[in-house]
Amino acid sequence: MIKTALTEALGLKYPVCSAGMARVAQAGLVTAVSNAGGLGCLGGVSFMPDDLRAEIKKIEAGTDKPYAINLLLPDSLTTEDETQWAPVRELWKSLSGADQEKMAGVEALLTPGAVADQVQIVLDAAPSAVVLTFATPDWFIKECKDRGITVFSLVGSVGKAQEASAAGVDFIVAQGSEAGGHTGYASTMTLVPAVIDVVDQPVLAAGGIADGRGLAASLALGAAGVWVGTRFIASPEAYGHDNFKNRVVGGSFKDSTITYSYSGKRMRAFENKWTSEWESSDKKPAGFPGQYAVAGTRVETGYLDGDMDFGMMPVGQTMQLVHEILPAGEIVENMASDAEKILRRLATGN
Ligand SMILES: Cc1cc2nc3c(=O)[nH]c(=O)nc-3n(C[C@H](O)[C@H](O)[C@H](O)COP(=O)(O)O)c2cc1C
Repeated sequence: MIKTALTEALGLKYPVCSAGMARVAQAGLVTAVSNAGGLGCLGGVSFMPDDLRAEIKKIEAGTDKPYAINLLLPDSLTTEDETQWAPVRELWKSLSGADQEKMAGVEALLTPGAVADQVQIVLDAAPSAVVLTFATPDWFIKECKDRGITVFSLVGSVGKAQEASAAGVDFIVAQGSEAGGHTGYASTMTLVPAVIDVVDQPVLAAGGIADGRGLAASLALGAAGVWVGTRFIASPEAYGHDNFKNRVVGGSFKDSTITYSYSGKRMRAFENKWTSEWESSDKKPAGFPGQYAVAGTRVETGYLDGDMDFGMMPVGQTMQLVHEILPAGEIVENMASDAEKILRRLATGN
C-alpha cells in the first residue's frame, strides 16, 4: 500500500485524484473514484448555483468518502464591479436564444454573481477538499481553513506555485503541458521537481499520467500523488458523448492542439475543424471569460451532440496511452496496483 502526505491527510486508500473537469466530472465520476479509494473531484465551475447544490447532494448520497470540488476564483469572476461584467454581458446578449440555451457548462462564468454563489454553496457543503485554479484568494483560503477544508492549488508554472505556497494552500498540483485543459509551457517531468524544489507543501503531479507507470514515475519525482483528467474521460461515469470517449480511446499525440479559441487562455484540446478554422482566421479571442460567450455553445456541441468536428473538447496527450473505456473505479485500482508492482520491482529486483 502506497502511503503519502496525500493519503495521510485525507484518509485515502490510494494517492490518485480524478481532475475536476468542467462538465465531464459530475457526481457519477466523483463518487466512483472516491468509493474506489481515490479522491474524486467535481468540476464545480460548470454548474449554475442551484445545479451545483443539487450535484453536491448527489455526491453526498453516493459516497461517505472524501471528495473535492474545483472552483475558478480569479478576480474577473468574483468581482461585483458591474463595469467589468459589461463587455461579457454584451457578448452574452448578442447570442441567439437557442445559443443561450446551449450554454450549459459556461453560463456560470458569464453570469455576474454566479461564482460568488458557487463559493457560498461549496463553503456550506464543506467537502474534504477544494481545488483552486488560476487564483488562490486569501479570503477564500481563510474560509476553508475555518471549516477544515483542505485547499489544493492547480498551477502550471514555478511562479504560480510560489504564489499559491505563499497564500498558504495545503497541496500544490503541478500540471505539465501534456495535460488536457488550460496549461502552461513546462512538461510534467520538469515542472514537478522544479515546483518541489521551491515550495514547502506536498506536490501532486498532473499532466500525462494515465496508468501505474505514470503514478510510479510521479512518486519517483517526489510527488505525493497524481491528478488525472484525460484517462477518466474514457469511463462510463464521465459525462460526454460516446464519440468523444471513443476519440480519446483511439486518439494519438497529434490529435490535440494548443488553442485560445475556447476561453481566451492557453488550452490543450482536440484539434478539429473548429480549432483550425479559428487559428487560421484573423479573429482575436475576446479574453477571459468573454471568449466563453463566443465558443460556449461548442461545449455541448461536443459533449452532448458528439460533433467531433465543431465541438470544443479539452483533452491531453495521454489519449495515446488510453486503449479502452473502463469503469472509473477500475482505473484507480489498476493504477495503484500497477504502481505498487513497479515500485516493488525497482526496490527488490523482482
Ligand atoms: C475535459 C477536461 C476538462 C477540464 N476542465 C478543468 C476545469 O474545469 N478546471 C480545472 O482546474 N482543470 C480542468 N482540466 C484540467 C485537469 O484539471 C487536469 O489538470 C488535467 O486533465 C491533467 O492532465 P491529463 O489530462 O493529462 O490527465 C480539464 C481537463 C480536461 C481533459
